[in-house]
Amino acid sequence: MSERPVEDSVKRVREHVNVARSEGRALRILFVCLGNICRSPAAEGVMRELSKKHNVELELDSAGFYGGHAGDLPDSRMRRAAAKRGLKLNHRSRTIRPSDFGYFDVIIGMDDNNIMSLRNAAPGVEEEEKIFRMTDFATRHPDAYSVPDPYWEGAAGFELVLDLLEDACGTLLDVINTKE
Ligand code: 4NP
Repeated sequence: MSERPVEDSVKRVREHVNVARSEGRALRILFVCLGNICRSPAAEGVMRELSKKHNVELELDSAGFYGGHAGDLPDSRMRRAAAKRGLKLNHRSRTIRPSDFGYFDVIIGMDDNNIMSLRNAAPGVEEEEKIFRMTDFATRHPDAYSVPDPYWEGAAGFELVLDLLEDACGTLLDVINTKE
């Protein structure tokens, strides 16, 4: 298993940070999973809280590939697990749009399926460069290669998702915040 955080991902995030800075705007990050009711809205919530705490301005959103839950709040099990950690999740599920690939600087998938779907949906090489794997930043979980889908799992699945996301988002924020 490769070193964490993965060097190439760190380098690419920094390039996007520099572009956003040069344009005088906040970095735009889109978190992506399948249903956009468990993992990606939780990632958005974790990152929102962290960025607020550390006073880093970011533009954050999340989306999914499956539209069956469009308009819904995150899954009640995910909201409950997040609330125990002081996070309020109020995102409304939406599917990913072609325009997301132009608008966002950094697009982060949770597992192999998400990454494959993102690569297939990216209109070109420039947009493919925006795709990242959440666990590339999960420093404290060196063996984790994905944020596993908790939808069909028990309560422990939701705790694992939050553990991985807190780890990865913490590192990601450090990467964004570090001046070269
Ligand atoms: P998520 O979890 O991708 O983390 O939001 C899922 C939620 C719903 C479904 C699949 C995954 N679903 O098939 O309904």
